[in-house]
Amino acid sequence: MTTSTTKQKLAIHGGPKVRSALFPAHLTIGEEEKQAVNKVLDSGVLSNYLGTHHENFMGGTFVRECEQAWASYFGAAHALAVNSNTSGLIAALGAIGIGPGDEVIVTAYSMSASATAPLIYGATPVFADVEPDMFCLDPNSIEAVITENTRAIVIVDLFGQPFDANAIRAIANKHNLKIIEDCAQAPGATLNGKKAGLLGDIGVFSLNYHKHIHCGEGGILLTNDDDLAQRIALIRNHAESVVESMGVSNLENMIGYNFRMTEIEAAIAHCQLKKLDSLLEKRRDRVQYFESKMAGFEALTMPAVREGATHAYYTHPCLWNEDLKVNRDVFIKAVQAELACFELREKEGVKLNVGYVRPIYSLAAFQQRVSMGRSHDPLATAWQDFSTSLCPVVENLHYRQLVVHEFIVPSMQNSDIDDVVNAFEKVWEQRDQLLA
Ligand SMILES: Cc1ncc(COP(=O)(O)O)c(C=O)c1O
Repeated sequence: MTTSTTKQKLAIHGGPKVRSALFPAHLTIGEEEKQAVNKVLDSGVLSNYLGTHHENFMGGTFVRECEQAWASYFGAAHALAVNSNTSGLIAALGAIGIGPGDEVIVTAYSMSASATAPLIYGATPVFADVEPDMFCLDPNSIEAVITENTRAIVIVDLFGQPFDANAIRAIANKHNLKIIEDCAQAPGATLNGKKAGLLGDIGVFSLNYHKHIHCGEGGILLTNDDDLAQRIALIRNHAESVVESMGVSNLENMIGYNFRMTEIEAAIAHCQLKKLDSLLEKRRDRVQYFESKMAGFEALTMPAVREGATHAYYTHPCLWNEDLKVNRDVFIKAVQAELACFELREKEGVKLNVGYVRPIYSLAAFQQRVSMGRSHDPLATAWQDFSTSLCPVVENLHYRQLVVHEFIVPSMQNSDIDDVVNAFEKVWEQRDQLLA
């Protein structure tokens, strides 16, 4: 950082920006994916599922090859491709037999689907709070909301940090609960040598464009349980039509959906998996560089990594030091002004922003207690009071402490990160101007 940069007038007050050029976009698609897609196009068969008792009930060649590759990479007995993580969460909850009257413990700090999926089966999401430093569900908070109706926990490896699987498995065993791991943000993360995706009973990845690897839209479920795998496959492909011919006797939640992934998406998802390790290595490298450049920057604490874990750094969640009496929101606005305009993600509040997404219980569906249908709405009868600050740690993180950024994606070069660090330092040196 040069003194001339830090002494210049802040961009938010009309001075020159530290950087005007856009940052390199997060692009992971290349020649391999193009060739794979062409192969599918040449075959003329863009999806090859059948809704009858036939090997193609499990999809076409590309879907099955993709699933085999994912199962083998993760060391899972089963990988099942679906058309999104959201549909994967629904299939997972259906597979474990969730129904009306059941309660499912969820986090208040995630993309909304992590908490709303139980509603599709008429079950009630019950919010627990998160760990203040790791951001995943807090085991103590989980225990505090268990009732006789609790059947499962949907737990998110938030920002790429694996959840506290040892503690939460012990709770689940004690109360006979299933664990659905939403690992949308953590492909390749590990805990004590075990890969995220296999830390619960069913793991669900996302392959939407924003993720480490993607195929446009898509999801992959992992499980080592043969029965759950079969039930997921049924829910994915109109279960009701095939249960008799397939000799399925447990009809609970066997009204299925079309959650099928196409051959094109599967071909891309297969290619992308081969890139995961090198993309992760780059992310970790960028994190290390950013953290080394920010060492000594007293206003931000870099993210902790759980003991025994490797982090996948979907984003890089830092904590704002409130003791320094500088307003986080005003400060980050000034840093944003120093950098090139962000597109799209910034509007969603992710590239560099204060907090992540609003506590889920503050969304209109929860506030107004309206979700599914006119009567027996699981939100109308939920015992939690969504109008209060249900999860104080989530509220504190979102409204006061968390600063989340994506300047650690593999497309970022060291010189790009230098600009970000310079922007932080320039604003910090002139922070007194922000109060004026
Ligand atoms: C933690 C988490 N869960 C669920 C989802 C939903 O994934 P999809 O868009 O594949 O349905 C996302 C996507 O942003 C996510 O980050």
